[in-house]
Amino acid sequence: MNGVFITLEGPDGSGKSTIIGLIGEYLEKEGIEFIKTREPGGTAIGEEIRDIILDNKNTNMSYQTEALLYAASRGQHIHEKILPGLKAGKVVLCDRFILSSLAYQGVGRELGIKKVKAINDFAIGDVYPDLTLFFHIDPKKTLERKFGNGDADRLENLGNDFHEKVYNGYMDLLKIYPENIEIIDANGSIEEVLEQAIDKINKAIRQRG
Ligand code: TYD
Repeated sequence: MNGVFITLEGPDGSGKSTIIGLIGEYLEKEGIEFIKTREPGGTAIGEEIRDIILDNKNTNMSYQTEALLYAASRGQHIHEKILPGLKAGKVVLCDRFILSSLAYQGVGRELGIKKVKAINDFAIGDVYPDLTLFFHIDPKKTLERKFGNGDADRLENLGNDFHEKVYNGYMDLLKIYPENIEIIDANGSIEEVLEQAIDKINKAIRQRG
């Protein structure tokens, strides 16, 4: 397996989704084979799971169910898309991965980082990212961005306390699992953020050899 597995992480509204599109354009231009995908989702089964998780009408979903559904979507994603892409030598770019579950379900939902990690380890085996880009941004800024457009999903609608807990969770996780994580300052312009991301990605690709 000689592909490069790269994940993008950060709070809601940190700009990852815009940047992942631009990274894709850059890789295309450079002639580097890649797959661009996201979580929850990324496969037909995963997208159906995503609809269940994010549906605003599912107010009665237990936190455990929520965590298991994210892990189930991830397990399918690894099996059907990520692992085959890596085996074919491609760069796999994924918008969110296990760190999101540890921050949102482990800390935000207070299920505990270790418990959430255990169900995810079961789901994904040993396929961990070669590089995680963590988009760091002032939490107040992210919420303004996200809620400005009025179509927030069930998780985004959880309010400031929840999102503050998630932010603090991410800050702790960066200390607990620093391996392969690079912090991107996402407060600047799109060009500045993209430049940092591409610099880290090129290093990871060069390391693969
Ligand atoms: P999405 O619209 O993809 O948000 P974003 O563009 O910010 O990534 O919705 C995904 C939501 O699901 C987001 O609020 C984060 C949350 N989430 C978890 O709670 N746990 C997870 O494991 C993942 C992958 C996402």
